[in-house]
Amino acid sequence: MASQKHIREYEALLTEARTATLLPTEERLLRPLLEAGADVVHPMSGHGIDDVALVSLGARSVVGVDYSPTAVASAQRRAHELGVPCHYLVAQMPNSTLDSGCADLIYTGKGALIWVDDLAAWLMELTRLLRPGGHLFIYEAHPLVPLWAWDTDEIRVRADRSYFARTNVNDTFPAHGAVERQNTLAELVMALVRGGFAIEHFAEHPEPFWRPDGAAAAAWDGRVPNSYSLLARMRDQGAGRDGGRF
Ligand SMILES: C[S@@+](CC[C@H](N)C(=O)[O-])C[C@H]1O[C@@H](n2cnc3c(N)ncnc32)[C@H](O)[C@@H]1O
Repeated sequence: MASQKHIREYEALLTEARTATLLPTEERLLRPLLEAGADVVHPMSGHGIDDVALVSLGARSVVGVDYSPTAVASAQRRAHELGVPCHYLVAQMPNSTLDSGCADLIYTGKGALIWVDDLAAWLMELTRLLRPGGHLFIYEAHPLVPLWAWDTDEIRVRADRSYFARTNVNDTFPAHGAVERQNTLAELVMALVRGGFAIEHFAEHPEPFWRPDGAAAAAWDGRVPNSYSLLARMRDQGAGRDGGRF
């Protein structure tokens, strides 16, 4: 079971958390938002290692939301051991159960969007949590990633996958057998615009956000996109909601 990973890997993740850093792009974009002491909410927080890095960049607090009690318990125990202001909550998005307007920044991704059934409902919950002018940051696998074969000699597009499919079944480590949701980049952008966000940064990256130990793939050689970073600011309530101005 995926959640048992959190128990097996507790000590290794604790060691990793002690020196946790974000990716350079994340640091560059988020440092200015965090150094004033932002309150962060992290939907689909998993092991929460990034939360320790967010605190070291200046976050006043991080609240992680995950529906796995095992992930939440491990992340909370780690936060206590490290003495960082990170708190974890068992809840199933898009019902975070958190108070409205509790966040300056929502930080998410790195394997989060594949679990989002209803992007509009998920974004609506995020806008509820954000304070006026608050930001949403996503660092996520590129929607083309399900199409890349793991061949090492040449980049190949899988014949059994479609960029426009709604789901795919994961057949690699660690979520083997899981049904993962797909959205195209355009669907993501339009959902953000309709949800009342103004996009401030959007970039595609050749590197995957995560590489399983020892794995190599031609698709990671720098020629095709494997991840993206996105920073969006919540517009004033009513401006652009439901596509009104667009
Ligand atoms: C691939 S992990 C990534 C988490 C995090 N970004 C990280 O780097 O550790 C995805 C997490 O989303 C959680 N999750 C999936 N669907 C969820 C939902 N509807 N509500 C809350 N958590 C969810 C899973 O339990 C898992 O811990």
